[in-house]
Amino acid sequence: MNTKISIIGAGNLGTAIAEGLLISKFCKPANITVTKRNTATLTVLKSKGVHVTSDNNEAVKRAGLIILAIKPFQVSEVLNGLKTQLSANQILVSVVTGISITDIETILKKNMPLFRAMPNTAIAIRESMTCLSFKNATEEQAAYVNNLFNTLGKVTVIHENLMDAATVLGACGTAYAMRYIRANIQGGIEIGFDSKTANLIAAQTVKGAAELLLQNGTHPEQEIDKVTTPKGCTIAGLNEMEHQGFSSSLIKGIAASYQKIVKE
Ligand SMILES: NC(=O)c1ccc[n+]([C@@H]2O[C@H](COP(=O)([O-])OP(=O)(O)OC[C@H]3O[C@@H](n4cnc5c(N)ncnc54)[C@H](OP(=O)(O)O)[C@@H]3O)[C@@H](O)[C@H]2O)c1
Repeated sequence: MNTKISIIGAGNLGTAIAEGLLISKFCKPANITVTKRNTATLTVLKSKGVHVTSDNNEAVKRAGLIILAIKPFQVSEVLNGLKTQLSANQILVSVVTGISITDIETILKKNMPLFRAMPNTAIAIRESMTCLSFKNATEEQAAYVNNLFNTLGKVTVIHENLMDAATVLGACGTAYAMRYIRANIQGGIEIGFDSKTANLIAAQTVKGAAELLLQNGTHPEQEIDKVTTPKGCTIAGLNEMEHQGFSSSLIKGIAASYQKIVKE
């Protein structure tokens, strides 16, 4: 299998994937190609040995696996320009929101292994949650792509009809978590910490809480039970948050993001 990887559209996410691949040593820097029309913004990746070009066809020609990381409205034009170059020996992975495998097949009009991946920006530090679905892939190809995203965080294979939901929970979820942490920082400052210390305490506490769930395989409420002393300060704070609509506002926010995706 040709293990060279080309990323078409090295913007926020494409660059984050390239950075994650470099740190993980999944492949050599020279075996990674990144493209965009204005390559002037890619000097850091270039200085690390990544091949940089604005020629998408050249990038596709070199690679066994192509990651499409452009905006949804650019997909038709870019894939139409690449369809004669793409072959059944290659693997195409799209991280584009809202573009289905069927949409891609309709443009390419050929049988080739097609993957949809929904990672998040923590992929740059190899802590992404990536949801994956695929079509026309052999077991070996599926394992290879799974392995690639596994080196960049955690992976779960889902039915493609859950991809919009995965976008909300996994990708928008980064922003929701940031707001939660920000609110903790604001509260922390009100009760006496400077901003920098409050930031550290809030971020590390959330990281530790998430690790408890991931490592113990527990439900959040089981971990909450360990912290809530009867008549104590934790349950007093938690109940006040719930009286103010904490869980309800989060659930409504997730549903609003989902409605926005499915209606567009
Ligand atoms: N950010 C996230 O957390 C996230 C998570 C999951 C999925 N996604 C999806 O990933 C995709 C990319 O998102 P993003 O945030 O990385 O967007 P972005 O920063 O705008 O990146 C897109 C890149 O594509 C390049 N591009 C545009 N036309 C091109 C062409 N013809 N050939 C090669 N490159 C081209 C642009 O650079 P030039 O203008 O210089 O060409 C730009 O840097 C989107 O579909 C998004 O929905 C994002």
